[in-house]
Amino acid sequence: MNKRIAIIGGGNLGVAIAEGLIDSGFSKPADILVTRRNIKVLQPLKEKGVQVSDDNKEALRFANLVILAVKPFQVTDILESLRDELDIKKHLLVSVVTGYTIEHMIRATGKQLPVVRAMPNTAIAIQESMTCLAAHEVSKEQRDHVDDIFNQLGRVVWIDEKLMDAATVLGACGTAYAMRYIRANIQGGIEIGFDAATASLIAAQTVKGAADLLLKKGSHPEQEIDKVTTPKGCTIAGLNEMEHQGFSSSLIKGIVASYDKIAKD
Ligand SMILES: NC(=O)c1ccc[n+]([C@@H]2O[C@H](COP(=O)([O-])OP(=O)(O)OC[C@H]3O[C@@H](n4cnc5c(N)ncnc54)[C@H](OP(=O)(O)O)[C@@H]3O)[C@@H](O)[C@H]2O)c1
Repeated sequence: MNKRIAIIGGGNLGVAIAEGLIDSGFSKPADILVTRRNIKVLQPLKEKGVQVSDDNKEALRFANLVILAVKPFQVTDILESLRDELDIKKHLLVSVVTGYTIEHMIRATGKQLPVVRAMPNTAIAIQESMTCLAAHEVSKEQRDHVDDIFNQLGRVVWIDEKLMDAATVLGACGTAYAMRYIRANIQGGIEIGFDAATASLIAAQTVKGAADLLLKKGSHPEQEIDKVTTPKGCTIAGLNEMEHQGFSSSLIKGIVASYDKIAKD
């Protein structure tokens, strides 16, 4: 596959992907083309050397690998308008469009194209996304290429497409759950004496460090909890009170409620 990447939909996510690939050194700006209708907004990318266009057909001429980053209600029209130019021997479509299935993509293109469905999260803007990927009819080379791309933008896991809704909840909604947890820590921190800025720093860095302990050491949360909980100490007293108030149960119920909502809609 050539190194060029086209991104159809230069909004929040499309631009974050382009910038992440450039900042990580994975892509040269000239090897990326981004489309949207209002290309004036893409001027900062253009100044970095990224190609910009309002013509999606140009994206298909430019690259084999085409990332779709438009809103769900826009994608069918776009794919239908590109039917004639889409070539199953040349193109690999990678869609980050929420809720738009591989089956939808095949139906809209009218072709058995190699496609990858991706579910990143907002931390893609700082190359710290958790991205879940599902593939259809892709070669090993294509799969490795997509893996490389999203590995520049955070961590990657390949899943069965039937788990994409679950990935949306745990990986994408998960950012919001984590923010609420941090916010509650900040509120508690203020009540026990810190100003808001200091409480925010302590809460965010502590959560980041805790997550890194799991990611870098591969340990289980409970192993790390054991290291902090002195018998008769303040940590276990606080943890047990949180559990009496339904801490773990409320998180699990929230995750299941989000999942049920996706399934219902
Ligand atoms: N934000 C996230 O963290 C996140 C995470 C996972 C998945 N997603 C999914 O990613 C997709 C994009 O999200 P977003 O937040 O980046 O949305 P967004 O900021 O609204 O970006 C969509 C972009 O598509 C462009 N567009 C619309 N019609 C077009 C067309 N015909 N040809 C080319 N470009 C066109 C729009 O620009 P113009 O109006 O100028 O054309 C806009 O810049 C959504 O489907 C979302 O569900 C987002």
